[in-house]
Amino acid sequence: MLYPNPASKSAQLFERAQHVLTDGGSRSTIRIAPYSIYAKSAQGKYVTDLDGNRLMDFNNNYSSMIHGHAHPRVVAAAIEQVQRGSGYAFGSEAELRLAELLCGRCDNFDKIRFMNSGSEAVMKAIKAARAHTSRPKIAKVENAYHGCYDYAEVSLGVEPTDLSKGDPVSKAYCHGTPQGVLDDVVVIPFNEPKIARRILDEHARELAAVLIDPIGLGMARFRPTDEFLAMLEDFCADSGALFIADEVVSFRAGPAGVQGDRGLKPHLTTLGKIIGGGFPVGAVAGSADVMAVFEAGDGKAKVPHGGTYNANPVTMAAGLVAMQMMTDDEFARLNRLGAAFRKGCAEVFRLTDTDGAVQGQYSVFTMTFAEPALSDTAARGHVYRSRGIHQYMVQNGYWMTPGMVGICSTAMDEADVAPFCETLMRGITALREKASHAA
Ligand SMILES: Cc1ncc(COP(=O)(O)O)c(C=O)c1O
Repeated sequence: MLYPNPASKSAQLFERAQHVLTDGGSRSTIRIAPYSIYAKSAQGKYVTDLDGNRLMDFNNNYSSMIHGHAHPRVVAAAIEQVQRGSGYAFGSEAELRLAELLCGRCDNFDKIRFMNSGSEAVMKAIKAARAHTSRPKIAKVENAYHGCYDYAEVSLGVEPTDLSKGDPVSKAYCHGTPQGVLDDVVVIPFNEPKIARRILDEHARELAAVLIDPIGLGMARFRPTDEFLAMLEDFCADSGALFIADEVVSFRAGPAGVQGDRGLKPHLTTLGKIIGGGFPVGAVAGSADVMAVFEAGDGKAKVPHGGTYNANPVTMAAGLVAMQMMTDDEFARLNRLGAAFRKGCAEVFRLTDTDGAVQGQYSVFTMTFAEPALSDTAARGHVYRSRGIHQYMVQNGYWMTPGMVGICSTAMDEADVAPFCETLMRGITALREKASHAA
C-alpha cells in the first residue's frame, strides 16, 4: 500500500474532514500522521481501505473484535435483532442471556449492569464505590488508561515520577480539570508495592476504591507483579476501600478474564470491548451487596442509572453469540497465538539486534523500539508511538496500533506468524538503511 499518498481517497476525505470534524475525526486514537485511513469494509482478519488496499488487522478496533470482522454468526444475530427492532424501552431476553453467561463464568460476578462504553463502565463503577462506602476518593496507577471519565484520566500521559525525588502527584489530563477532581484522586506508582501501600495508607479512610487494570500498563505491555496485586487486595481488605478491576481490555485473557487467571477477587469489575460482539458496550459487574447501589426497589437507587442505549438489544444479541463462541479452548488457542507472535517478534529482535523490547500478555503482543531509526517518537509517560516501523507495517499490509500493539483475533492462526515476522524483519532492515543514507 502506498502510504502516505496525497492522491488516495483517504487523503482526500481527511482533507475534506478538516472542515467539519475536529482534527478530521472523532477519535484521537485512530489519528495517524499525516492522515487517517478510511475503511471501505472489513471481513475476518482483514480491513480494506477506500482505495482497495487490504491490511491484516492486528488492531481489531483496539481489541474489541475478538472474532475479527463481520463474523457470519455475529452478523446474523445482529441482523436478526435489527429486523425485530433495534431499540425499545423494554427489556430484552438477549440482555438476560448475556448476563447469565457472564455471571456464570466469573465467580466474582453476582450481578451485572450494561451500558455503552468502557469509559461509562469505569464512571459507574467509581460512582457505585462512592455510594457503597460513602467515601469521596479513588486511587489509580500513574499513567494507567481507564477511559475518559474525569477522575479516571488523572495523571495520564505524564512523565513517570522519579520516585527518588518524591511521590506521584495528581496531574490534570484535560485543561480545565477542576482542582476538586485532582484532590479526590490518589495516584500510586505501578509495581511499587511498598511505596504505593504507604501512599494508600495515608488516605485509607477517604478511599472509596482502588482502580486497577489487571493486565497492567500500556495495553498489556507491563504486567503487574503478584506482590503488587496482593498488596492492593490487602489494602482494600484492611481499609474497606473497594477493589475495582478494570477488565475492559483484559477480559479477553480467559473465560473469567485476568481475575480468573490470577485468582483476584475484585468487588467490582468493569467490562467492555469483546462482550459486545463489536458493538458499543460497557458493563459493571460485582458482588450482590455492592451492586445493590443500582437497585431502586420501590424507591430511588443510591446510584440511579438510566441510559437510552443501555443493554441495547443489537449489542446484547451480537455479544451473546460472540461470547458463546469464546469457549475455554478458544481462549486457550488465542493466548497460544499471542505467545507465538511474542516468540516470533523476539526472535526478529534477536536476529536484527534491535534495541527495544517485545512484551505483552495473553493474546496481545507489543513492541517497544528504542532506536530512532525505527521509531521517531519516543515513549512518553507510557504513551507509545512508533511511527517509522508502524508506517512500514502499514505500507506492507499490517495494521497495528500506532504504539505497535498487536491484538490477535480468532480469525487468525499460527500460519500468520511467520509472514508477519518476515515483514517486521525486512522493515527493521529497510528503516535502518534509510536512516544510514540520510545521515
Ligand atoms: C483499561 C481500559 N478501560 C477503559 C477503557 C475505555 O473504554 P471505551 O473506549 O469503550 O470507552 C479502555 C479503552 O481502551 C481501556 O483500555
